[in-house]
Amino acid sequence: MSDTHSRLPAQRPAPAGAEPLLKLSGLEQVFDTKKGKVPAVGGVDLEVRPGKVLCLVGESGCGKTTTARAAAGLTRPTGGTVAFRGKDVAGMNSAERLAYRRAVQYIHQDPYAALNPTRTVFSTLTAGLRRHKQVRSKAEARQKASELLRLVDLTPPESYLDSYPHQLSGGQRQRVNVARSLAMNPELLICDESTSMLDVSIRVSLLNTLGRLRDELDVGFLFITHDLAVAKYFAWDGEIAVMYLGKVVEHGPTPEVVGDPQHPYTKALIGAVCEPDPDLAKANRAASGLRSADIPSLTALPSGCAFHPRCPAFEPGLCDDAAPPLIRLGDRPAAPGAADGRRLACHVVARDRGRAPSHDPAVTASDTGTPRGAAWSA
Ligand SMILES: Nc1ncnc2c1ncn2[C@@H]1O[C@H](COP(=O)(O)OP(=O)(O)OP(=O)(O)O)[C@@H](O)[C@H]1O
Ligand SMILES: [Mg+2]
Repeated sequence: MSDTHSRLPAQRPAPAGAEPLLKLSGLEQVFDTKKGKVPAVGGVDLEVRPGKVLCLVGESGCGKTTTARAAAGLTRPTGGTVAFRGKDVAGMNSAERLAYRRAVQYIHQDPYAALNPTRTVFSTLTAGLRRHKQVRSKAEARQKASELLRLVDLTPPESYLDSYPHQLSGGQRQRVNVARSLAMNPELLICDESTSMLDVSIRVSLLNTLGRLRDELDVGFLFITHDLAVAKYFAWDGEIAVMYLGKVVEHGPTPEVVGDPQHPYTKALIGAVCEPDPDLAKANRAASGLRSADIPSLTALPSGCAFHPRCPAFEPGLCDDAAPPLIRLGDRPAAPGAADGRRLACHVVARDRGRAPSHDPAVTASDTGTPRGAAWSA
């Protein structure tokens, strides 16, 4: 085992039991555009714990990247809070902010765009270490870079150190990006569609490497994908949060969400994505009963539940009145250090299961059931 490998966990603060690494509370992001206000994220509550995976899934434009960028401190949210190890990022002093920005690393979708084409792998991997004077000589820097490459299964490292990005495959480039983030000794990796541009076998191989980092280095993951099959593979021991038009509509342990989806939108996503046979996937999509293929515009959101114009379970007067809050399903207590049970935002399922939102202690301040347009125009 390499020096970096064994050193990483020991350098961190001790795991704080149930304390989340990252906590998003009522996160909102409204963009001001020429066409008006775009409420991209509308009150999201999420937590990631050390060494755990939270997978954020949903269609294009539902707000995954916007949520992730706010979580990484790359943008300032217009509402709600981002807390790292219990500390509100907005209130951090410069030293705390620096530590947070190093502990939370963001890995982009496009491995080529994220790398400087004029830098070798060695230069890319060690730029931060040299800037922060964490290496004293070129020999030490090469040794560190080699350790990082071994961590991401690019071996032998000598074959890659002096390569430029254009000399690497897409999978190798993404591994270099991951290695660069590991140089910062991160506690949380935010992977934004980081495997989606890769061929299937290369994607699986990279997912396996990331899984090893999670297990051996105790790195937590906010893992973003539009592909439920990838979520199922990578986050089987973790959680899935399903987003629709800026809100979480279903959230819980992966096997439960994938194996027994409750929200009509989750059911439709699973029908569309998890079937490798395209003919069967098409049949599943038809069987999901979506009433319309069109996703409403964020600037003209439907009243009540934003999914209601597409929803096969739509009931007039119930679904188009107030937005459904995210409520806890069932009474099973959460396991220590795990997600706070299973949650769902659907009027029909809540009623059928006898879970009136007003009786649920899990309803938070951001889940007031206020019609979304009204909340944002206030
Ligand atoms: N800077 C911005 N200004 C205005 N609107 C924006 C901005 N960034 C994102 N949006 C809008 O916010 C919504 C959410 O975008 P976001 O990129 O978070 O979605 P996503 O779920 O990551 O989608 P994808 O799967 O395509 O990456 C979209 O409607 C997008 O057009
Ligand atoms: Mg995105």
